[in-house]
Amino acid sequence: MVYLRRRGNEVIALSAECTHLGCNVHYQDKQKRFACPCHKGTYDLDGNVLGGPPPQPLRRFAVKVPADPSQPVQVEV
Ligand code: FES
Repeated sequence: MVYLRRRGNEVIALSAECTHLGCNVHYQDKQKRFACPCHKGTYDLDGNVLGGPPPQPLRRFAVKVPADPSQPVQVEV
């Protein structure tokens, strides 16, 4: 699973796989962060570790945004 986020004119794609032991992180709108339910790891909206046991940021993937808005965004996994 991948989260897509618009940041200004840029779109970033973040893996939902926690870098601790691989559970799926969930987006928490109220706190504007990603949280892992397994051991309470947390990440900011760029995937950087905020707290808990994750040893590194969420993995980031390259994104191609087509000039034609009717075409889908492509994530290179
Ligand atoms: S698997 Fe996410 S904090 Fe442990």
